[in-house]
Amino acid sequence: MSGADGNAPPPGADPDAEAESGSTGDSDMELLRNLLARTLGLGTDPPERVLDELSLAGVARFMQSERCRRVVCMVGAGISTAAGIPDFRSPGTGLYANLGRYELPYPEAIFDIAYFKQHPEPFFALAKELLPGQLKPTVCHYFMRLLKEKGLLLRCYTQNIDTLERVAGLQPEELVEAHGTFQTAHCLRSSCRHQYDLSWVKEKIFSSLVPKCDKCQSVVKPDIVFFGENLPSRFFTLLQSDFQKVDLLIIMGTSLQVQPFASLVSRVPAGTPRLLINKEKTGQSDVFMSLMGFGSGMDFDSDKAYRDVAWLGDCDEGCLALAELLGWKKELQELVRKEHAAIDSVAAREDKSDAPGGDPKPRRGRTDSTGGSTEGGGAASEHRGDSKES
Ligand code: OAD
Repeated sequence: MSGADGNAPPPGADPDAEAESGSTGDSDMELLRNLLARTLGLGTDPPERVLDELSLAGVARFMQSERCRRVVCMVGAGISTAAGIPDFRSPGTGLYANLGRYELPYPEAIFDIAYFKQHPEPFFALAKELLPGQLKPTVCHYFMRLLKEKGLLLRCYTQNIDTLERVAGLQPEELVEAHGTFQTAHCLRSSCRHQYDLSWVKEKIFSSLVPKCDKCQSVVKPDIVFFGENLPSRFFTLLQSDFQKVDLLIIMGTSLQVQPFASLVSRVPAGTPRLLINKEKTGQSDVFMSLMGFGSGMDFDSDKAYRDVAWLGDCDEGCLALAELLGWKKELQELVRKEHAAIDSVAAREDKSDAPGGDPKPRRGRTDSTGGSTEGGGAASEHRGDSKES
């Protein structure tokens, strides 16, 4: 994983991991050709314009048409801020602006694999604060669940490690957790790599200990992708097919600053509409990044704009507005109400069992172990601990 803003540590994932997964080749050459042609304004016929209007209403009408059968969502930290988890880069409130107490050489060092190997303590101290606790997925998470229930969701590509997509009822196969997950952890020693689960790691973290392998005493690291590490092969494998057949891309709550994730926006076919729901415009064209092969970015405003729509504001509000246009608003609100009530009742039961004489569990991490669900999904059906990765 690497930062596109120049502040983040050096690249680790993109070229190597793609080569490893054997996923380059013709399609990448094609992508490069198209990028160059688009960047330099050469040749190629303008793609067919499928939105009747570059607006949320235009997107909603397209979603109601026969032509929109497969939606891919790309999401980031902004979809979880309403659940109480800070994002990374928002000025003032973002995580990177609030790491002073860890005395890091630069903020992203806390997620840098080379730094972590030397100094694991700051990451685990932060993890103690951040580990998903009694968190409820947001309206935005449940909007994706509705997309799934309507048979429209092809995949959700998330950069988040809070597991809230699973808690909201998306199945592991419907998800690409591009930056990994806290669900599992491994011993860092390459000759060991013993696997541990979330509850084992939590126990150590909540005792303010750096988790050490029972077998070899090396540090155990949660399976989240640090800067300098490869993304999961699942990311590179699935993007090859998903991004060829996607009819609509919905991007929510991300600054699109971290590669290779950010470059996914330019992987979709030239005619595929792209809707951004975010507090600010992100992912716009950047000639330098295009020439580096990281995609041509989005065009919301130029004379040539033909498929990109930016809805600016809070993700939850944006999802509600879209749901209203689709005639799903009541259904979405009811889903959120029902699922949140179910999470509250599980928490209340656990509170009872934690009462004096009960089983003393750490107070955090109640809903994260929900870890997805079976048919029907979500917290309402109380399926827990499904940490399957495929
Ligand atoms: P960022 O913090 O970079 O971007 C979050 C985006 O969401 C910003 O554009 C915010 O303006 C927007 N935003 C915040 N709250 C919002 C809300 N309620 N409604 C709408 N928009 C909102 O987070 P990411 O793009 O997810 O890697 O960051 C990408 C990666 O950088 C992360 O996965 C992380 C980090 O280094 C790891 O930790 C492994």
